[in-house]
Amino acid sequence: MSDLYERLVKKEAKLAVIGLGYVGLPIALAFARKIKVVGFDINRKRVEMMRRSEDPSNELEASDFEGADILFTADTEDLKDVEFFIVAVPTPIDEQNIPDLRPLLSASRTVGIVLKKGDHVVFESTVYPGCTEEDCVPVLEEMSGLKYMTDFKVGYSPERINPGDKNHTLESVVKITSGCDPETAETVAKVYELVVKAGVHRASSIKVAEAAKVIENTQRDVNIALTNELSIIFNRMGINTYDVLEAAGTKWNFLKFQPGLVGGHCIGVDPYYLVHKAMEKGYHPQIIDAGRFVNDSMGGYVAKQTVKKIISAGTNPAKARVLIMGATFKENVTDIRNSKVADIVRELRSYSVHVDVTDPHADSHEVEHEYGYALAQDINGPYDAIIVAVNHRDYADRNEAWFKEHLKPEGLLVDLKGTYRKRINGLAYWSL
Ligand SMILES: NC(=O)c1ccc[n+]([C@@H]2O[C@H](COP(=O)([O-])OP(=O)(O)OC[C@H]3O[C@@H](n4cnc5c(N)ncnc54)[C@H](O)[C@@H]3O)[C@@H](O)[C@H]2O)c1
Repeated sequence: MSDLYERLVKKEAKLAVIGLGYVGLPIALAFARKIKVVGFDINRKRVEMMRRSEDPSNELEASDFEGADILFTADTEDLKDVEFFIVAVPTPIDEQNIPDLRPLLSASRTVGIVLKKGDHVVFESTVYPGCTEEDCVPVLEEMSGLKYMTDFKVGYSPERINPGDKNHTLESVVKITSGCDPETAETVAKVYELVVKAGVHRASSIKVAEAAKVIENTQRDVNIALTNELSIIFNRMGINTYDVLEAAGTKWNFLKFQPGLVGGHCIGVDPYYLVHKAMEKGYHPQIIDAGRFVNDSMGGYVAKQTVKKIISAGTNPAKARVLIMGATFKENVTDIRNSKVADIVRELRSYSVHVDVTDPHADSHEVEHEYGYALAQDINGPYDAIIVAVNHRDYADRNEAWFKEHLKPEGLLVDLKGTYRKRINGLAYWSL
């Protein structure tokens, strides 16, 4: 192990986190309670907020910033005396579902400009196996004029935090670490052990660590897709999927996945990174691609089923009004990125249905900016259908009387996550 770890602990060397979003900020603050940290982000507005102890992603409290030895900055000058870099910038996909490496390569350029001999760079962004060494390292070399392995070292340590989840935190979940050679791997592991109480798993190489992360989310995606497909089949048979899952779930080795919308910037995105690399290697993944197709189709499917039922109830869709409860990509978060609720809205509107969307957590301006519709401030029934699309805890105590109050007499409750399944007796009801 190099002496960098010792010098970080003695506060003789600094660590920087590049990209302070859902992933980067908690890491930066965790390290800043132990060692000297520079928190760098290109978004000056976000940097200003963090200087005021506000988390722009709405996950952390002001108290989480207390006692942190951290400089929040958007100025690369402040990175010049940093020796250990962690890169946690977004890795999205483009319109064709191809990895968009622009933020990652841009962050690599930022680090490359200030890189010195002996420095370590650890990437945390979710990527395909090979991305760190094949795509990012050449940028570091080009910008710095230094040589990989001889002059500077690289590692990869994927992130497992789960927004909105206070139990599975950076500190409490084992973290995978890796390095370009055994000495670096040990330095990276020791550095993360400073903040991850649950400990680290030392992966055998950077590629193994990259692959491990991308399959964690691919496995979830494919399993949810199977459950969604089962839900489509069971709907045609007139049986409730959640009843079936409850029964099958009594077997010791039955995996407990639920049907639903798969949005957000991880599960619905990361499998495309693996698909991209597999295709580059001459293999077209069948199962992963099929899973993506099924999950990406669920918003449209839910909307079509709702319209069919509205027509069956004798209403012309062009005269129908539907309320959607929930606009975020999952329950109890404010994040609306890649929310599949937008697919439901788009499909309903294609049948000329009037749609109101509410959400106690989402920001109406953000939703309008991203999807072109603002959130309804009031519930303005009676509706032909109410779709509870997101399982926010705020909705848990709604009862049949509440839905009846906002629905027409023949109105339909669409309960995507089966939350109210055993509580509804006198309403038209449908769930996945
Ligand atoms: N959010 C999660 O739950 C989660 C979980 C595991 C892994 N990941 C992965 O972690 C990575 C980061 O995701 P996130 O959710 O934190 O993203 P985010 O969008 O919340 O935050 C990214 C931050 O990086 C900044 N940024 C963008 N380009 C930059 C650049 N060139 N230089 C410096 N800063 C830059 C942005 O301004 C923003 O503040 C992604 O690869 C993601 O797939 C996310």
